[in-house]
Amino acid sequence: AKRRIVLLPGDGIGPEIMASARAVLERLGEFEFEEHLVGGASIDRYGTPLTDQTLAACKRADAVLLAAVGGPKWDTTDPQAPRPEQGLLRLRRELGLFANLRPVRPLPALLDASPLKREVVEGCDLLVVRELTGGIYFGERGREGERAYDTCVYTVGEIERIARVAFRSARRRVTSIDKANVLETSRLWREVVERVGRQEFPHLELEHMLVDNAAMQLVANPRQFDVILAENMFGDILSDEAAMLTGSLGMLPSASLGEPGKPGLFEPVHGSAPDIAGQGIANPLAMLGSVVLMLRHGLAMADQAARLQSAIERALEEGLRTRDLGGSATTEEATRAVLAHL
Ligand code: NAI
Ligand code: MG
Repeated sequence: AKRRIVLLPGDGIGPEIMASARAVLERLGEFEFEEHLVGGASIDRYGTPLTDQTLAACKRADAVLLAAVGGPKWDTTDPQAPRPEQGLLRLRRELGLFANLRPVRPLPALLDASPLKREVVEGCDLLVVRELTGGIYFGERGREGERAYDTCVYTVGEIERIARVAFRSARRRVTSIDKANVLETSRLWREVVERVGRQEFPHLELEHMLVDNAAMQLVANPRQFDVILAENMFGDILSDEAAMLTGSLGMLPSASLGEPGKPGLFEPVHGSAPDIAGQGIANPLAMLGSVVLMLRHGLAMADQAARLQSAIERALEEGLRTRDLGGSATTEEATRAVLAHL
């Protein structure tokens, strides 16, 4: 049967880069597409950033591809007004997307885009696996007079399932991040990751690293990492830090995955770039990188994923540069340059 993909272009540059993704997918295979509004576009049409219908379509899909949501038009101080990003949060929650994957691989053709020295980033190829639905971002919080508190909670089950995602993604080593010298959740994290690794993935190397050291190692010697496994907040911070190894926001894809057999959500890391929306100059490569992740992790189409990835790299080697990379290629020209190598 044809794979069913829900496309959510969203706002700002979203529709422009989604057109690029669709053109590439049409070249790569036979898919059944269903396109829906999300974010600000959905608020304008239906009064809500995610309709029940769109959500139901996403749940039925084999994978969901999202561009970006948001923009100044929907930035309001009215707490009652619907907001575009609520749609995205609800989608993540409803699809049970507990694993966020961010590959960071500075491409040889773009090494000079990184603020770090070439010798430091060259050859670096790592994946951050971040737990997305637990920890301090979801624990009880509150205020009592002069006091405020947040609580960090993790269960054995939550740690086991994200650890398995990390081990399955690793080629040789998992570096598990924690603060086990201080935090009890970190001590449980370390125990559970250790057990899952020993029992289920004995062929892989497992190393534990305290988060403060990891923050330093990421910029001092990023090549030592293969897969970085982290709880929600540590992963949030370290993945933004790791993103700077490549230098350009317009290049970074991400995947959010739930239980096996449930659809994943694939989206670029960047937002809707309202400052350049409608001009046809957005860099579509983070979007196309998200298509690579969708093919590989969401649709089990590893060959097509590899073909698209190498087409992107060859187009860059031949000099493809959109404006954010210091060139002048339009979104359409960039898309054609990638298509030419498929
Ligand atoms: P942004 O990522 O949209 O833009 C930051 C800067 O990077 C801008 O100068 C933009 O032009 C540039 N940029 C981003 N993507 C680009 C691309 N593909 N090609 C070329 N240049 C690119 O972040 P910003 O400005 O903070 O947020 C804009 C809107 O996007 C806000 O409403 C925000 O809430 C939303 N947003 C949505 C996200 C999502 O849908 N997952 C994530 C982050 C922000
Ligand atoms: Mg962040």
